[in-house]
Amino acid sequence: MLAGKRILLIVGGGIAAFKALDLIRRLRERGATVTPVLTRAAEEFVTPLSASALSAQKVYRDLFSLTDEHEMGHIELSRAADLVVVAPATADLMAKMAGGHANDLASTLLMATDKRVLIAPAMNVRMWEHPAMQRNLATLQGDGILTVGPNEGDMACGEYGPGRMSEPLEIVAAVEAALADGPLKGKHIVVTSGPTHEPIDPVRYIANRSSGAQGTALARALAGMGAQVTFVTGPASVPPPGGVKVVKVETAQQMLEAVTSALPADAAIFAAAVADWRMASAQGEKIKKDGSGRPPVLEFTENPDILATVSQMPSGRPKLVVGFAAETETVIDHATAKRARKGCDWIVANDVSPETGIMGGTENAVTLITDTGADSWPRMSKEQVANRLANEIAAALG
Ligand code: C5P
Repeated sequence: MLAGKRILLIVGGGIAAFKALDLIRRLRERGATVTPVLTRAAEEFVTPLSASALSAQKVYRDLFSLTDEHEMGHIELSRAADLVVVAPATADLMAKMAGGHANDLASTLLMATDKRVLIAPAMNVRMWEHPAMQRNLATLQGDGILTVGPNEGDMACGEYGPGRMSEPLEIVAAVEAALADGPLKGKHIVVTSGPTHEPIDPVRYIANRSSGAQGTALARALAGMGAQVTFVTGPASVPPPGGVKVVKVETAQQMLEAVTSALPADAAIFAAAVADWRMASAQGEKIKKDGSGRPPVLEFTENPDILATVSQMPSGRPKLVVGFAAETETVIDHATAKRARKGCDWIVANDVSPETGIMGGTENAVTLITDTGADSWPRMSKEQVANRLANEIAAALG
């Protein structure tokens, strides 16, 4: 529910702007007050009259409007909301945000706000995949901007791929996560997720079968309970949840760096399947067959153990540090030993033998190992495991 919440909705100029009108309705149905801001380009797609009629609010359009400045200055407008939502966030608006431009009302509000900002990108697939766009996205995510979508699918321009704006109800869910009042409100939690990719040479890498599903579900559940979540993810096959700060990494070393720079945190949950080893020296050129019939010898070196490093931090250690243990035999014994070895508070242990179908699947059967012993949970969906674990975390952080 969003009762009493105030949303400043900036509508960018793209064909997905028509969905912003439905978004206004959906947000209002849940009790939110929505103040729309239309860019010049947005007015080519939706009219101020529709936005005003659906929101039952004045629509803001112009930076240099004497009347608006007299009624409510743009600085005040940028701060009067609980959350700023940009939907659709066009390539142009995102570039302006990443570059810190302030040359129209929307970009100025985004620069001036002291509130969290959630963007729902929407653009042609090639624009989305363009290196400039991906650079801007990384900058925005690094600045703490929250994202939802885009989805993959048919596009208005006739192409297919990622770039479709999330559906209004998906955006509403991300808004609810970003504004969630719950037992974890005010707590910062770092979650790692997904596999890591360790390069062998420029084209090959060492990976594992982790999909990132459990870490993603957990981050979503924690955000849903009000936590501010920093989600550090390797190249996962499931998309990251909305309403969290996403930091994308490839290697274990990058993951460690991202985690330490995200601290301080109240809790850190290490759900990533980090590669234990990386190449002692990754080759700068593709390794070629040399005609001798002898395969190359790959020399490995141990990766930093992120869980152990954070668990054993001499100062600034999160109050609760949780590791995962994916085992294929004597799960509880191994996981109990792992908890002691790494110095973490809890271990969430599971059996990933191929016959369980857990690795890459939708279900999980876990045992939670704490200082009071081992508690085995029945097999359930990864979402249910995430919700139950999030509840335990909320209770522990009190
Ligand atoms: O030792 P093992 O890989 O089985 O431990 C699994 C736990 O340790 C997981 O929580 C995983 O995220 C974490 N881990 C880590 N850094 C590593 C290896 C594992 O944080 N290099």
